[in-house]
Amino acid sequence: MRVLLAVASRHGATREIADRIATELAGEGHVVDVVDPVDVDDLGPYDAVVLGSAVYTGHWLPEARVFARRFGSELAGRPLWLFSSGLATAPSAATSAPAQLRELLARSGARGHESFAGRLDLAALSRAERAIIAAARAPEGDQRDMGAVASWARRVGAELAADDADVADDADAADLAAPRPGLGSSPVTPLARPAPLPTG
Ligand SMILES: Cc1cc2nc3c(=O)[nH]c(=O)nc-3n(C[C@H](O)[C@H](O)[C@H](O)COP(=O)(O)O)c2cc1C
Repeated sequence: MRVLLAVASRHGATREIADRIATELAGEGHVVDVVDPVDVDDLGPYDAVVLGSAVYTGHWLPEARVFARRFGSELAGRPLWLFSSGLATAPSAATSAPAQLRELLARSGARGHESFAGRLDLAALSRAERAIIAAARAPEGDQRDMGAVASWARRVGAELAADDADVADDADAADLAAPRPGLGSSPVTPLARPAPLPTG
């Protein structure tokens, strides 16, 4: 399948998570374009979408939110997964899944949302960002777990591959069901769809 992986990242950590997801999806046989959400004009070429964003002060970055609004109905017609990356930990992990995200999950019919731990590089932050982080007492350093990212991506890739197989089976079924000279029609039961990924 051709997959659009749209990712909003301010300091690069979420972009690297997206690159790892893309590597795993490619390993499952999919063709993946990793792009900034503002650079997407058309979902037409894509069979599926993964949309991710870093979380800042409890929200996805604006470009990811705008993307979700702009392509709302088209997203709803495609397999869609969402991911967030941030440093909130239990019991405040809910900041990585803000209210807009819950609404987006419901509206878009996304198959899942996953929260990944992020990276905080104080030297890369603006003065304003450093002030926010100092107040939040967020831990500096790279908390990303690329193993967790990779295993989530492989599950997404496997689900997409199963979708592809379903489409091929449906096409075969239609072909078999078509009346042929000398043969009756042969009804074929399509395979059950796989269960969706649990939301994170
Ligand atoms: C100013 C600021 C605010 C942040 N607010 C949150 C937050 O509300 N929740 C959260 O989980 N992480 C928060 N983080 C952590 C970032 O999401 C984390 O550093 C992320 O990995 C950054 O991704 P990026 O490099 O792709 O921009 C914040 C970081 C900064 C610098």
